[in-house]
Amino acid sequence: MNVVITGGAGFIGRRLARALLERGTLTGLAGPGQKIDQLTLVDVTPAPALRDPRVREVTGDIADSAFLNGVIDGETTSVFHLAAIVSGMAEADFALGMRVNLDATRALLEICRTRRHVPRVVFSSSVAVFGGALPEVVPEGTAVNPQSSYGTQKAIGELLVNDYSRRGFIDGRSLRLPTISVRPGRPNAALSSFASGIIREPLNGEPAICPVDADARMWLLSPARVIDCLIHAHELDAAALGTDRTVALPGLSVSVGEMVASLERVAGPDVAERIRWARDERVARMVATWPGAIETTHAQSLGFRADDTFESVIRQYMDDELSSRRG
Ligand SMILES: NC(=O)c1ccc[n+]([C@@H]2O[C@H](COP(=O)([O-])OP(=O)(O)OC[C@H]3O[C@@H](n4cnc5c(N)ncnc54)[C@H](O)[C@@H]3O)[C@@H](O)[C@H]2O)c1
Repeated sequence: MNVVITGGAGFIGRRLARALLERGTLTGLAGPGQKIDQLTLVDVTPAPALRDPRVREVTGDIADSAFLNGVIDGETTSVFHLAAIVSGMAEADFALGMRVNLDATRALLEICRTRRHVPRVVFSSSVAVFGGALPEVVPEGTAVNPQSSYGTQKAIGELLVNDYSRRGFIDGRSLRLPTISVRPGRPNAALSSFASGIIREPLNGEPAICPVDADARMWLLSPARVIDCLIHAHELDAAALGTDRTVALPGLSVSVGEMVASLERVAGPDVAERIRWARDERVARMVATWPGAIETTHAQSLGFRADDTFESVIRQYMDDELSSRRG
């Protein structure tokens, strides 16, 4: 199998690459358990090399279709399309968001179509496709109504994946990812960045600012679970998905106040006190348009799973990130 990950230097792309290398196989045309011979990681930002003979790292802009044409060839059996301009940046730079999140997604699908090799394509969408006046729990089948350019670009991507699949050009699957927390490293330009920052920074002994009110409700998934879900999506039989290839992933519905209370229970009051509450209207207004909980019976029946509790997510971050730094 020749597998391509766009956004292969990013937070999720890097973890997915490691998980695929460790797993060693995916489902291909000849069935499950096909050996991954080559893993191509594509990103505009170079990253420290993953030392594995199966890895090919390619640096370039996926919005440049000549470049993308050289990355996806007739031997490509699977594409995990993760490269994106995240929400805050796509809102700040409309043209850039359109170019990467929409134009490059269409170009990628077009390359697959003209190559006629029908790869499996897993597209990372987002809960930002929902918006407007939403009920406490968003029912399945709710129409998309994005309130950001990023959400709009993701919603269009989902429809394209559906149509290219219906026409038999690709075998696609789109996952609506919840906000992923706890993301290690530094804050990024996503409007949801605080959902990791208010846990990560205090645990690192640093102050954090919470830009939304304590009752703001988030739909969350851990880094480990999102990787499981991306691989699971690839492995699913297309027949199980039906005519709509989009799956809203299960998550944990947690208010920001509950997130901070969980941090206090796991790490103690001194750590939780490092958070300062300072409402940022721009962030708070956008976060309020996202769903705080989604009905995911369909996703669960397909075998997708969320985390058990937010406390377990914090412990996972401490085990993975803090202990590896100490050791
Ligand atoms: N992390 C989350 O909370 C979350 C939530 C919902 C959806 N998603 C989606 O999941 C995917 C991965 O997210 P992430 O958190 O790893 O983001 P990330 O920003 O860490 O990774 C995205 C990668 O895409 C690369 N990229 C951007 N423009 C590019 C271009 N023109 N050409 C090539 N590469 C380019 C970036 O350099 C980056 O490494 C994205 O599509 C994102 O929209 C993430």
